[in-house]
Amino acid sequence: MNNGDVSQGRRRFLIGATAAVGGVGVVGAAVPFVASWNPSAKAEAAGAPVTVNISKIEPGQQVTVEWRGMPVWLIRRTDEMLSNIEKLNDKVKDPQSESPQQPPYIDGILRSLKPEIAVLVGICTHLGCVPSYRPEVAPADLGDEWLGGLFCPCHGTRYDMAGRVYKAQPAPLNLQVPPYRYDDDETLTIGLDPEAA
Ligand code: FES
Repeated sequence: MNNGDVSQGRRRFLIGATAAVGGVGVVGAAVPFVASWNPSAKAEAAGAPVTVNISKIEPGQQVTVEWRGMPVWLIRRTDEMLSNIEKLNDKVKDPQSESPQQPPYIDGILRSLKPEIAVLVGICTHLGCVPSYRPEVAPADLGDEWLGGLFCPCHGTRYDMAGRVYKAQPAPLNLQVPPYRYDDDETLTIGLDPEAA
């Protein structure tokens, strides 16, 4: 792996939606969702908070938005995904996410304000590649013990559906959770803390 390869990995993310495959419910059209972004791309580039309407994210679907030049994933986790996270507590390196990879108001194994919506910075904590969303259980290439999660193609790091890194991986830390808050049940802003925080 040379630096060029890693840079290529950083560029790999695309704005839009990635359909879940296998075993989980699928999919809504990406275009109306993307069109709902606020504020403008120019303001985003300057590091402004990004407000996202999450109502069209289907169960099992992952959507990517850009915040401060980084891909941020929103995943609507199914009940099966949530129970699989718990099953992996013994296999991940930092199950309670005690390392400072999230704001202080995010705690617990699910690493989110509400169980069903995960919000994660989609950059591998090893050398910065963008992991792939792999929600399917036991796919041929990842093996029988894979319960869905994020897989980094650069050096093979595995994360679960809460962005928790498995033990003995190249990456040292869980994926970062950005600051975010709910403005209402259907609207979430990345880059702002909850008012109570
Ligand atoms: S960048 Fe090396 S495993 Fe992700």
